[in-house]
Amino acid sequence: MSKERTDSQIKLCCAAFYQSDIVRLMLGDVLHPGGLELTGHLGAVMGLKKTDRVLDVACGRGASTVHLAERFGCQVTGLDYGAENIAAARARAAERDLAHLATFRQGDVEGLPFYDGAFDAVISECSFCTFLDKAAAAREMARVLRPNGQMGLTDMTVRGGPLPADLQGLLSWVACVAGAGTPESYVASFRGAGFGHFTVEDHRDALLEMVNDVRRRLLGVELAVGLGKLDLGDPNLDEGKRLALRAVELIE
Ligand SMILES: C[S@@+](CC[C@H](N)C(=O)[O-])C[C@H]1O[C@@H](n2cnc3c(N)ncnc32)[C@H](O)[C@@H]1O
Repeated sequence: MSKERTDSQIKLCCAAFYQSDIVRLMLGDVLHPGGLELTGHLGAVMGLKKTDRVLDVACGRGASTVHLAERFGCQVTGLDYGAENIAAARARAAERDLAHLATFRQGDVEGLPFYDGAFDAVISECSFCTFLDKAAAAREMARVLRPNGQMGLTDMTVRGGPLPADLQGLLSWVACVAGAGTPESYVASFRGAGFGHFTVEDHRDALLEMVNDVRRRLLGVELAVGLGKLDLGDPNLDEGKRLALRAVELIE
């Protein structure tokens, strides 16, 4: 199988994971630690203003895209690999009467469908860790940003050496664990793409809170499936629970 084909299968698998019923049950529409509070904080730190054109890379179901448009009054474009995510994001913007400010495109971060310098600011939340070619992703984000524009990233990071072998599987990859790097490695990716002046903040409490919340919800889902009140096909709940527990151990 060609590398291109394998890469696009992994991207499709990642998008499918974040479009699945089980993930929606676990996380709702906001697919990153810290929720919209952290998104608002990121926008404030970046000093977003009404006249800005903002790109939300790997926007998932568009919760942050719509939130930034609502809170800062700016024009925000959300892009995601998953077609169902994009459809859900458009519906969300329409429901909130924000379709004139929050618009969406399906696409791949490794080849963004926008011209050079099209945006004043680019954000990406809990997604850089899932990108297969991080250097290409950072390069593309830099290309569509105007000179002296701002890039805002929130993401999972790891400290120390590589992750243990049991966290290197496909589920770990799409669940943002296996592809996560150190904060320094993310800075290096963006420095390599031409960015300077970095500010790094630690929000590990938000991550711990999210993982613990997922563990509680997994137990609820397991109970509902066991009682026959919920049919999710054949999700690997045991693997999900194991992953969540290992994540807590690693964060702590
Ligand atoms: C953890 S979710 C985060 C979604 C959103 N940023 C949020 O915080 O709600 C990761 C997202 O990355 C998207 N994604 C993964 N690889 C991608 C790629 N190569 N190009 C565009 N989107 C991608 C997935 O479809 C998924 O929606």
